[in-house]
Amino acid sequence: MLKKTLIAASAITLSAFAFTACGSDSEGGSSTASDDGSITMGFAQVGAESGWRTANTKSIQESAKDAGIDLKFTDAQGKQENQIQAIRSYIQQKVDVIAFSPVVETGWDAVLNEAKAAGIPVILTDRAVDSKDTSLYKSFLGSDFVVEGQKAGQWVVDNAADADTDGDGAINVVQLEGTTGAAPAIDRGEGFADAISADPSIKVVASQTGDFTRDGGKQVMESFLQSGDHIDVLFAQNDDMGLGAIEAIEAAGLTPGKDIKIITVDAVHDGMQALSDGKINFIVECSPLLGPQLMDIAKKVLDGEDVEPRILTEETTFDQAQATEALPDRQY
Ligand code: AHR
Repeated sequence: MLKKTLIAASAITLSAFAFTACGSDSEGGSSTASDDGSITMGFAQVGAESGWRTANTKSIQESAKDAGIDLKFTDAQGKQENQIQAIRSYIQQKVDVIAFSPVVETGWDAVLNEAKAAGIPVILTDRAVDSKDTSLYKSFLGSDFVVEGQKAGQWVVDNAADADTDGDGAINVVQLEGTTGAAPAIDRGEGFADAISADPSIKVVASQTGDFTRDGGKQVMESFLQSGDHIDVLFAQNDDMGLGAIEAIEAAGLTPGKDIKIITVDAVHDGMQALSDGKINFIVECSPLLGPQLMDIAKKVLDGEDVEPRILTEETTFDQAQATEALPDRQY
């Protein structure tokens, strides 16, 4: 499948577009750092929707500081139009390099063409963009979300007997989707569906967006529970939605991890704690610690070095015992 480009953005507020001019090359030319060797990066973050995002923002900000890169950071508050506005402002400010994590996959070609025409290289982090023109960005650094969904689905297939909590031979799965149109929501759903198709007794009986937030996960899980249908398994496409759903499950008098098996993605500290406590059964890791690699890629691009167009993040999975072991050293 032809796919994706990325985008990221972050902190402070969009209205604070008080950028100061910094060096960049002339229109359409090849990119270099400013004449004095300093590098300014404009970074447009998705928002602050989850523990994962908070850790990602911290990683970007700390790594920029460590690398001596001047970071201009924008928090797009979950809105694509805010990210586009941020990127246009970075172009106007003549930053040396732009990085972002796109809120959604589609609709980026126009603004990315503007960056290209201005000679400012773009690096996608975390999430892809669905563009046929791969010349619009230098590299895409992040996870393979399809594989993450597959790992989650494979756990249900491998643990089918245990996952059939009412023992009726049918495994009813409810799914909490991430932000509609976002790469991780699309790809994790696709990977999960692909893996569970190996066992016809496993069916997704309800699937709705919780927008990657704890509140969203809680509210949607409440509505799933109110339907009255038996739920064997919850697949929450991130830890925060899973944690919100746990609150709804407990409020309904059920035991998360036992009456309803729970699988999530991310492995942030709160998720790992719930896994270790037996409230979650399995977590697929998605690392937010992209900052150091991003700064390294930016420096290489500005030095005129070749970079890989797709750089994959290394990730693992955790069961309950592994979470207990990993928790003391967890960085996020
Ligand atoms: O794009 C990464 C996803 O975005 C994380 O899994 C989720 O927690 C975040 O909101």
